[in-house]
Amino acid sequence: MLSFEAAKARLETAGQSHVLQFWSELSAEESSALLEEISLLKPEELLEHCRAAVEAASRHSSADGRLDARMEPVPPEFIGSVRKSDEERLKMWGDEGLLQISQDRVAVLLLAGGQGTRLGVPYPKGMYNVGLPSGKTLYQIQAEGIQKVQELANLKHGCRCTIPWYIMTSEFTLGPTEKFFRDSEYFGLCPSNVVMFEQRMIPAVGFDGKIILEKKNKIAMAPDGNGGLYRALVDNKIIEDMERRGLEYLHVYCVDNILVKMADPVFIGFCVNKGADCGAKVLDKAYPSEPVGVVCRVDGLYQVIEYSEIQPETAELRGPGGELLFSAGNICNHFFTRGFLKEVAEKFESQLKQHVAIKKVPFVDGEGNLVKPTKPNGIKMEKFVFDVFQFSNKFVAFEVLREEEFSPLKNADGAPLDTPTTARRSLLAQHYRWALAAGGNFLDEQDKPIPPKHSMTKNKDPPAICEISPLVSYFGEGLEKLLKQKNLKSPFLLDENEAKNLVQTT
Ligand code: UTP
Repeated sequence: MLSFEAAKARLETAGQSHVLQFWSELSAEESSALLEEISLLKPEELLEHCRAAVEAASRHSSADGRLDARMEPVPPEFIGSVRKSDEERLKMWGDEGLLQISQDRVAVLLLAGGQGTRLGVPYPKGMYNVGLPSGKTLYQIQAEGIQKVQELANLKHGCRCTIPWYIMTSEFTLGPTEKFFRDSEYFGLCPSNVVMFEQRMIPAVGFDGKIILEKKNKIAMAPDGNGGLYRALVDNKIIEDMERRGLEYLHVYCVDNILVKMADPVFIGFCVNKGADCGAKVLDKAYPSEPVGVVCRVDGLYQVIEYSEIQPETAELRGPGGELLFSAGNICNHFFTRGFLKEVAEKFESQLKQHVAIKKVPFVDGEGNLVKPTKPNGIKMEKFVFDVFQFSNKFVAFEVLREEEFSPLKNADGAPLDTPTTARRSLLAQHYRWALAAGGNFLDEQDKPIPPKHSMTKNKDPPAICEISPLVSYFGEGLEKLLKQKNLKSPFLLDENEAKNLVQTT
């Protein structure tokens, strides 16, 4: 344990002596918690962190036009597309992906260290239940997706393969996530194939360059962004773990996309087929000002540019066919080879850009009273997972369909976008479409037919409620033999038991 003198000296070097201002008022337990926290901070790094935060915050502004002229779209030869590819090509990529999976060369990595402040629940977002008939949480949906892809690869290749699941958590999410998985018996997965690890936390800094105290003996800390992944991979020896397991490819994704296709064989097959070391799923932006980052090149290097970083005129530029020039919206679904991750972690991590978020950070004032600020008062610095694209030797993008792949849970109900309601509706609309395509007929409570509806409005539930367990179907496959010409009473839940019943009644 660090002594008081050593802690004091450290903080003086970093210009942060105020952290000990309440020392004389602390109990033995409180002071040792504070010393513990200080012992994790290196003075030179802390000094640099606070300096960089203030500098970045002073530069933090909206688009200044500096990027626009240097941007170019991803060249078409580096983009694959679900929309523009025929069945045969998609099948070829899917087969390649399943082959890699069957050979135990593919893992998934979940970014689950975020604080989910906008959703505002006091537990990790992955534990959220958006109100599906099954009551499943995001974690459970993802776990079942893994099992189903393993099964598809096993059936095709006569093997017993494993897709390990790496889960990056933070101080906020590790404990509850571990407990939730234990209590849920890992949703049927083998615990040794679920590897949880923790990202680092960094102090929030005030506009005066002083780190913020959230209690008399506690520094306000926040996770270092989802780009903290690369440091966390090193800290927790995850690349070595991948090496031991013979894993070559990693599908990285965010916790909050209810439509995420776990270890998507088509995406993985596409990236492997192109010899890529780094890839990103993208989707066609819905409209020029849609607030999603755009995958593009700047001075020849791949990057994601946030909507706020470019001028509206640039966002509105169109190509010869009338399509948006910068249309490749980033949805935080990435492909990395192990070799690429190793190179990034060893050589490039320190070059990753620091992004600034100006937030309201609760703090204790000079008298030790807790203050909940009404105006933003703190600078949080974050690294982003996609900022490594620039280091890729062969980058590819893969355009997917929004209604099949992307519906994030960001905000609490009441907000116009990306809420529990919109996430639930996206999933139910997808499953309703799959059931109709498989030839199912829906009935209402009074056994009256519900006329099928092929185009749906986003702000309404589908005409019939249908939820299909990922354990039954991964992307709508295999449903015809269960649902064709069957009368399905809404709300209809197709889980494994119901699938067995349907097989028996065929
Ligand atoms: P968001 O940027 O949406 O942040 O994260 P968030 O923390 O979930 O929500 P807000 O902004 O506080 O409301 C996108 C993804 O990156 C992960 C999140 O868990 C989510 O999967 N993430 C974010 C991390 O893993 N670590 C971080 O430090 C930040």
